[in-house]
Amino acid sequence: MFALVLTVLVILIAKWVHRCWTPKCNGTLPPGSMGLPLLGETLHFLASTTSNDVPPFLRNRMQKYGPVFKTSLVGQAMIVSTDADLNYFIFQKEGELFESWYPDTFTKIFGTQNLSNLHGFLFKYVKNMVLNLVGSERLIAMLPEIEGASSRCLKTWSGHDSVDVRETTAQMIFDLTAKKLISYDSEKSSEDLRGYFEAFIKGLISFPFNIPGTSYYQCLQGRKKALKMLKNMLQERRERPRETQSDFFDYVLKEVEREDKILTEDIALDLMFVLLFASYETTSLALTLAIKFLSDHPSVLKQLMEEHEAIIKRRENPDSGLTWSEYKSMKFTFQIINETLRLANIAPVIFRKAMKETKFKEYTIPAGWPVMVCPPTLHLDPNTYKDPLLFNPWRWEGVDTHVASRKFMVFGGGVRVCVGADFAKLQMAVFLHCLVTKYKWKAIKGGEIVRTPGLQFPNGYHIHISPN
Ligand code: HEM
Ligand SMILES: *[C@@H]1O[C@H](CO)[C@@H](O)[C@H](O)[C@H]1NC(C)=O
Ligand SMILES: *[C@@H]1O[C@H](CO)[C@@H](O)[C@H](O)[C@H]1NC(C)=O
Ligand SMILES: *[C@@H]1O[C@H](CO)[C@@H](O)[C@H](O)[C@H]1NC(C)=O
Repeated sequence: MFALVLTVLVILIAKWVHRCWTPKCNGTLPPGSMGLPLLGETLHFLASTTSNDVPPFLRNRMQKYGPVFKTSLVGQAMIVSTDADLNYFIFQKEGELFESWYPDTFTKIFGTQNLSNLHGFLFKYVKNMVLNLVGSERLIAMLPEIEGASSRCLKTWSGHDSVDVRETTAQMIFDLTAKKLISYDSEKSSEDLRGYFEAFIKGLISFPFNIPGTSYYQCLQGRKKALKMLKNMLQERRERPRETQSDFFDYVLKEVEREDKILTEDIALDLMFVLLFASYETTSLALTLAIKFLSDHPSVLKQLMEEHEAIIKRRENPDSGLTWSEYKSMKFTFQIINETLRLANIAPVIFRKAMKETKFKEYTIPAGWPVMVCPPTLHLDPNTYKDPLLFNPWRWEGVDTHVASRKFMVFGGGVRVCVGADFAKLQMAVFLHCLVTKYKWKAIKGGEIVRTPGLQFPNGYHIHISPN
């Protein structure tokens, strides 16, 4: 009884606080509920689901309020956009009406130098640096290396009864990128750099209680340790300059040391951290899901094998490595990659902030308000993708790229579109090539997915690989 009275009281107070708290606006704010004070609708947003479909949080509110609505998450009022036109508009007006923004917990996690908040000139500058790492010319040169790494890993795996693809692809891609970035070798180093990142990732979406034992605490610790390692590395290279520039870190340090320097040491360290983080978790999740889809769809696997066997048949020497033009010819493979990324929705939300008061249809987005762009609703819209939950790579045949850019935003959009997109696709395609031409596999256990709302494989995905 007491509990009931207390509950009613809490609800009444919450309603009252909520009414006073609802922000003023010149025009009409989109409809929506701000939920409980402080907590807002955070718990609904973080509720886990086990399908590839649009999460109930979005589905329920889209039905009730339409494609654009307001909510409050972790103490922050924001607009949510599931509207294709508004999403496109937001990405196109980057730096003019909208800018990159991350929730406070994120900025705390990603550091004070706010790499994520880099604006205008500095942003373009950093972006150009990253293109020096994964621009198309670099990728052409990297192709043999990626093929070598994939072949070596597959060979090792085929000696085991069971390998967790989720874990091993993550390690493979991390090793490859960490080598390019900082010449890191997990087998020779005394520090478990990937372990730091794993701790970091686990607490990324969590309540910000910084108490030992919580995943938030571990997340911050992971970041701290990784940054410390990078900082030591920087110090070491300062003291003993290396003769030849051999990795991306050398190149970044040269920029830090320039007379007219734009890049500070702290931003440089943040950049290295973000690149290490952004480059392996995403691609390995996508690759794991692709392998699962192939296991579950033998007809797709068959056509994929035919495409890759044909590539080898066309060669004079079947053992010569993949060429760039062979890579470019993998039409069906790219359809599979698109289809996997469409259903994977690796980036469930992307944040922006309104720089000025902005009108959209009958609604007003007040200046300073964050907007949460939700690409998954576009990717699962049955009007664009018939039977959206079906894994069907053939649907990409002859797709109009103009339509695709508005209805396919797996890598974001506008000037801040993912700089690593081509790198990610290259790694996936080359790995699949090595896998289907030399090996067969069968699923053993795991493979269940959970979204909170980021994609996870709680039990990994275990398969047995053997030579063809
Ligand atoms: C399947 C794999 C990947 C997916 C789905 C993905 C997705 C995304 C998305 C959606 C964004 C936009 C974020 C925003 O607009 O705020 C982004 C940005 C970014 N991605 Fe990726 N990404 C992937 C792989 C990679 C790789 C391999 C790299 C490594 C080079 C990378 C580096 C970056 C960087 C540096 C940014 C920030 C760009 C900026 O803020 O302007 N990503 N990614
Ligand atoms: C309403 O509009 C006026 C003038 O355009 C502006 O100064 C004011 O900041 C606006 N108020 C809000 C809440 O956006
Ligand atoms: C980071 O943000 C703070 C406050 O928001 C600002 O004073 C500082 O200049 C920013 N740093 C960078 C490098 O953007
Ligand atoms: C994959 O999607 C992109 C849109 O980002 C499109 O340009 C490309 O043509 C698609 N690839 C295939 C093979 O359909």
